Amino acid sequence: MEDVSDPPFRALCKEQGADVVYTEFISSEGLIRDAAKSVMKLDIYEKERPVGIQIFGANLDSMLRSVDIVEQTNPDIIDINFGCPVKKVVSKGAGAGILKDICLMEKLTSEMVKRTSLPVTVKTRLGWDHDSIKIVEVAERLQDVGCKAIAIHGRTRAQMYKGNADWAPIAEVKNNPRMQIPVFGNGDISSPERAMEMRDQYGLDGAMIGRATIGNPWFFKQVKHFFETSTHLRPITLTERVEAARRHLQMAIDWKGEKLGVFETRRHYTNYFKGIPNFKEYRMRMVTSDAASDVFATFDEVEDLFAHHEFN
Ligand SMILES: Cc1cc2nc3c(=O)[nH]c(=O)nc-3n(C[C@H](O)[C@H](O)[C@H](O)COP(=O)(O)O)c2cc1C
Repeated sequence: MEDVSDPPFRALCKEQGADVVYTEFISSEGLIRDAAKSVMKLDIYEKERPVGIQIFGANLDSMLRSVDIVEQTNPDIIDINFGCPVKKVVSKGAGAGILKDICLMEKLTSEMVKRTSLPVTVKTRLGWDHDSIKIVEVAERLQDVGCKAIAIHGRTRAQMYKGNADWAPIAEVKNNPRMQIPVFGNGDISSPERAMEMRDQYGLDGAMIGRATIGNPWFFKQVKHFFETSTHLRPITLTERVEAARRHLQMAIDWKGEKLGVFETRRHYTNYFKGIPNFKEYRMRMVTSDAASDVFATFDEVEDLFAHHEFN
C-alpha cells in the first residue's frame, strides 16, 4: 500500500506472520527516469522474502524497461498493478484504467512475462464498472499468457472504496475449471472471521490484506491463530505497540537516515496508538519532533504512562 508498506512496515508484518509481502506500487515512468522516490521503493530486506515488487504503467516500453530495472534488485515476484482507482493513475490508462482495454492488459502481461525469468503476478479489480465485469475471462486470458497468480479486489473501479467488496465473482474465477493458477481474494478482510470465510466459503487460495494491517501488523498472527484454534489471540498490549513503533523508527533511520526516517515514520504512530484516551499531547510530540531521540523519549514516556491501557 502506498505510503504504508515501506520496508520497515513490511518487516514487521513478516515477523507477525505475513506469508508474502509487496512493495508500494511503483511508477514505471518514474523508474525509467530514475526518479528518487520510485527507485527508493525498490529497496527490499532479505528477511522479508518472499517479497513482490509491484509496478504500474500503461506504456509497454516503459513497463519492459521497468522489468529490467526491477529484476536487478532480485525480488521473488514482479507484480503488476491493474487495480489502482486513483484519477491521476487511471487517467493515464494505468492501474484500474487498464480495465477499459483488456487487450492491452493481456499484451503488457504477456510481454512482461517473456521479459523476465521471475514470476509475474497481477493485482486487479472486478472490472471498470458494474456493467463491464468480465473478470472470469480476464483472469483466464492473463493465465494463458503466463501470469503466475492473480489477486482480485472485489470492487470495480467505479466503486473506488465504496460499498462492500463482492467476493462471489472472485470465487467464480477460482471455480472456473480452466483456472490453474492461485487466485487470491482481496477487499474488506477486516477480521480473522472474514479471512476464514474467504478460505472456507469462497475457496480462495489466499487472502490479500490491506487496510486491516494499518497500525496492526499483528493482523496476520491474529488470523493464523484463529485458523489454528478458532479463538482470538489476546489483545496486543501497549508495550508491544511501543516496541513495534520503536523498531519501525529504528529500521526507518537505518534505511533512510535520521531526517527522512523520523519524517516518514510519523504517519504510522497514530495507527499504532489508536484508541488511547487523552493521547493527543503525545501523538503531537511524536509527529512534530525532528530528532529521533525526542521521539524515542516520548515512546518511553508513553510506555510508562499508559502501560495499563487495555486494548480490545
Ligand atoms: C492507503 C492505501 C494505499 C494503497 N496502495 C496500494 C498499492 O500501492 N498497490 C495495490 O495493489 N493496492 C493498494 N491499495 C489497495 C489495497 O491493496 C486493497 O486492494 C484495498 O485497500 C482493499 O483491500 P482491504 O480492504 O484489505 O484494504 C491501497 C489501499 C490503501 C487504503
